[in-house]
Amino acid sequence: MLPKVAQSPTNDDFVQNPYPFYENCLAKGGKVFWEDYNMVSLFKYDDVSSILKDRRFGRECPEDKKQGYRKELAPFYELEDHSMLQLEPPKHTRLRGLVLRAFTSRKVNSMAEEIQTLCAQLIQNFSSNQVNILNEYANKIPVIIIARLLGVPEEMSEQLLRWSNDMVMMYQARRTVKHEERAIKASKEFSAFMRSYIDERRSKPKDDLITHLISAEENGEKLTIDELITTCILLLNAGHEATVHSLGNGIKVLLENKRITIDWQNELKINQLTEEILRFDPPLHIFTRYAYDQIDLGDYTIKKGEEVALVLGATGRDKTLWSDPEYFDPSRVIKKNTAFGGGIHFCVGAALARLEMQIALPMLFAKYPKMELAEKPRYADVYHFHGLEKLLIKLKD
Ligand code: HEM
Repeated sequence: MLPKVAQSPTNDDFVQNPYPFYENCLAKGGKVFWEDYNMVSLFKYDDVSSILKDRRFGRECPEDKKQGYRKELAPFYELEDHSMLQLEPPKHTRLRGLVLRAFTSRKVNSMAEEIQTLCAQLIQNFSSNQVNILNEYANKIPVIIIARLLGVPEEMSEQLLRWSNDMVMMYQARRTVKHEERAIKASKEFSAFMRSYIDERRSKPKDDLITHLISAEENGEKLTIDELITTCILLLNAGHEATVHSLGNGIKVLLENKRITIDWQNELKINQLTEEILRFDPPLHIFTRYAYDQIDLGDYTIKKGEEVALVLGATGRDKTLWSDPEYFDPSRVIKKNTAFGGGIHFCVGAALARLEMQIALPMLFAKYPKMELAEKPRYADVYHFHGLEKLLIKLKD
C-alpha cells in the first residue's frame, strides 16, 4: 500500500509554495497516492524520468478509458485530437518528425541576434521606473519570437496571448464553466484565423515555419489542414506560456537572493543559472501518463489503463540528487532536469526556451543591476502551471 496524501491544488499556501508538500512526499519515499487527484503520484527524479521514457506509458488516453466530453467543448478537444502532445506512435512519430524537419536547431540558433535586438527594444521602451516586468518583458519575448518563427504577424501577438491564455485554462485545477466558455471561443477564433492564414501562405510561400510545415513531407505524406492548424496553435501556445514563467520565476529568485552575484559576461555561468532556475522553480509541475499494460513499480502494481501523475515540479527537490535542494545555487552543475520532460514527448522548444532565457536575463540584469522587487510577488492560482500573477520591479541602474 502506498502512503495516502491529501493536498488541494487550489489551496493558496500550496499555490504560493508547493515545495514543502513535495518535500514531505519525497520524505515518504516519493511514491504516494494523491487523494485530491485520485492518482498514484511520483516525485523522485529517477521514477519520473524512467516513466517519461518507458513506452509502456503514454499520453494518449486508451479507448476504453475515454470519458467523452460535453458536445459544446468539441472545438477545443477536436484541436487536441491532432496535437502531437496528446498522441502516441505511430501518429505522434509522424507529426513530430514533420515538425522537427521545419524546426531545426540551425533555425533556432539563427534567432539569437533577433532575440537580443528585441530584448534591447523592450528594455528601452519600459514605461516608467516601476514596471510589471511580466507584461513589459517576460510575456513579450517568447510570443513575439514564436510568432516571427512561424510567420504570423507580430502585431497579432497581444491577440495570440489572449487566445493562448484562454485555451490553457482548460488544464488548470480551478477550471470553471466560465473558463471553458472562454477556451471554446478562443479555440474557434484561433483555428479560424490559422485556417485562413495557412491558405494565404499556400499561395504566398515565405521562409517561415508555416511555409515549411505546409511543404514538409514524410514518406510522401504531408500534414493535413487540421494537423497544420493544431500544430501551429500548439507551437504558438507551448512556445510562450512556459517560457514567460521561467523568465518571471528566474527574475524573482535572483531579486530575492541579492547575495548571489552572477558574472553576466560568462556564457557558461549563464547557462548554469538557466538550468538552476529550471530545477529550483520550474513553470510546469505535473503531467500524467496512462499505463498501457499492468506494470510493477516495485512497491505498487499499476493497473492497465491507470493514470499516473509525474510531478516534474518536485524532481529538483530530490535529495538523492541534490545537496540542500531548497537553496537556489547557480553554481550547481545540473545534468539532470525534468523541466522539459523526457522520452518521446521531450519538449520540441527546449533549445529555443533556453536561448531566450540565456539572452533575456543577462540583458535585463546588465542594464539594471540594482533593480529591486517593488512588492512581494504572488503565484497565480492556476496549478499545475506555476507562474506569477505579476512581477512589479523598481528599475535602478
Ligand atoms: C521554459 C520553457 C518550456 C518548458 C518548461 C517546456 C516544457 C515542456 C514539457 C515538460 C513538455 C512535455 C510534456 C509531457 O511529456 O507530457 C513539453 C512538450 C512540448 N513543448 Fe515545451 N516547454 C517550454 C518551451 C517550449 C517552446 C518555446 C516550444 C515551442 C517553440 C515548446 C513546444 C513544445 C511542444 C510542441 C511539445 C510537445 C512535444 C511532443 O509531444 O512530442 N515548448 N514542453
